[in-house]
Amino acid sequence: MIKVELRVNGAPVSREVDDRTLLVELLRSELGLTGTHVGCDTSQCGACTVKLDGAAVKSCTVLAAQASGGEVVTVEGLGRPDALGEVQAAFVACHGLQCGFCTPGMMMAIDYYLDTDGSLDDAHIRRALEGNICRCTGYVNIIRAVKHAAQARMAAGKPLGTHRHG
Ligand code: FES
Ligand code: FES
Repeated sequence: MIKVELRVNGAPVSREVDDRTLLVELLRSELGLTGTHVGCDTSQCGACTVKLDGAAVKSCTVLAAQASGGEVVTVEGLGRPDALGEVQAAFVACHGLQCGFCTPGMMMAIDYYLDTDGSLDDAHIRRALEGNICRCTGYVNIIRAVKHAAQARMAAGKPLGTHRHG
């Protein structure tokens, strides 16, 4: 067993977990944050994407112990039911989902994209989302949602692409 201490969606978390516990397991099973989905468990689909210290990571490939000391944001941390975040609201406005299984991971990857790049041409957006698979093939509306969220961010005075990782 190993003790992990981190912040999740702004709140401090401390747990004793098996050394082999994955970050996605900690989030879902220990913390009840079931918005983070497991679609493959082999780093293919992106449904488990969260932000760790500002970077988008596939939480099925990160040990909980590796995230210890870090700051995690999940889809639940992007907004509240009564005050959706820009990316969440954009998915509603653009109908960016069908079954919704890929949606939390897509939202986190898009949030990261807007943080770190935010170019609004389709090819650029498609390349940024290539690690996230939508089995319903709803990519056209997802790309519309990216642009919608970007415009909402800029309207709120938050510039795009300002957060860089080494
Ligand atoms: Fe992590 Fe598919 S569940 S990439
Ligand atoms: Fe169904 Fe993407 S909306 S997998």
